[in-house]
Amino acid sequence: DRTIKIAPSILSADFANFGQEIRAIEAQGADWVHVDVMDGHFVPNLTFGPAMCKAIRPHIKTVMDVHLMIAPVDPYINAFAEAGADVITAHVEAGPHIHRTLQAIRATGKKSGLALNPGTPAAAAADLLDMVDVICVMTVNPGFGGQKFIHSQLDKIRSFRKMIGDRPIHIEIDGGITSETAPLVTAAGADVLVAGSGVFSGGSVDKPEVYGQNIAAI
Ligand code: DX5
Ligand code: ZN
Repeated sequence: DRTIKIAPSILSADFANFGQEIRAIEAQGADWVHVDVMDGHFVPNLTFGPAMCKAIRPHIKTVMDVHLMIAPVDPYINAFAEAGADVITAHVEAGPHIHRTLQAIRATGKKSGLALNPGTPAAAAADLLDMVDVICVMTVNPGFGGQKFIHSQLDKIRSFRKMIGDRPIHIEIDGGITSETAPLVTAAGADVLVAGSGVFSGGSVDKPEVYGQNIAAI
């Protein structure tokens, strides 16, 4: 299913009103809800853990897409699975045993995602394709919302589109997605677009027209 999906990142939502924010984006057509988990170690920022994921899970009617920017990953996989994640994404850079990590994610029965930082070539994922349901191409350096899209990553997206062939693997793009960059990544072969600041416009969905414009442009 290559239809374009929008995955708003609640990193840019109002942290005091996640339930309301999630209902608003789903009412506006969000396909997945993207949850950015940061540990202050793998990335220079801290967000939330499995307890928060569990608390917001009942508010999500679509897909809970959990992006783990943590190292190590393996000790926390079961906790995020139990918290209700549908997709659990780990970074190829997070440790020496990414294959084992993907096996552990699959063993929970959840979909597995593999994220690549901007400095990591597509080839790093080539021997892992039978282990992944989602490839997440980072188009910013992970850690913060609202950064500028890194255009050099478009070639990587094209490489993945070729590499994946007929496999049922989503290509998700994370970082700097706006109504300007969304058409570039979909033309390159992406089908899941994460958007934080582009959707929430700096802390709330009080301005649904911003989201509407992005949807229209995509
Ligand atoms: C960055 C996160 C992203 C972030 C995207 O580390 O993984 O999901 O929220 O935010 P925008 O869309 O504002 O670049
Ligand atoms: Zn993310």
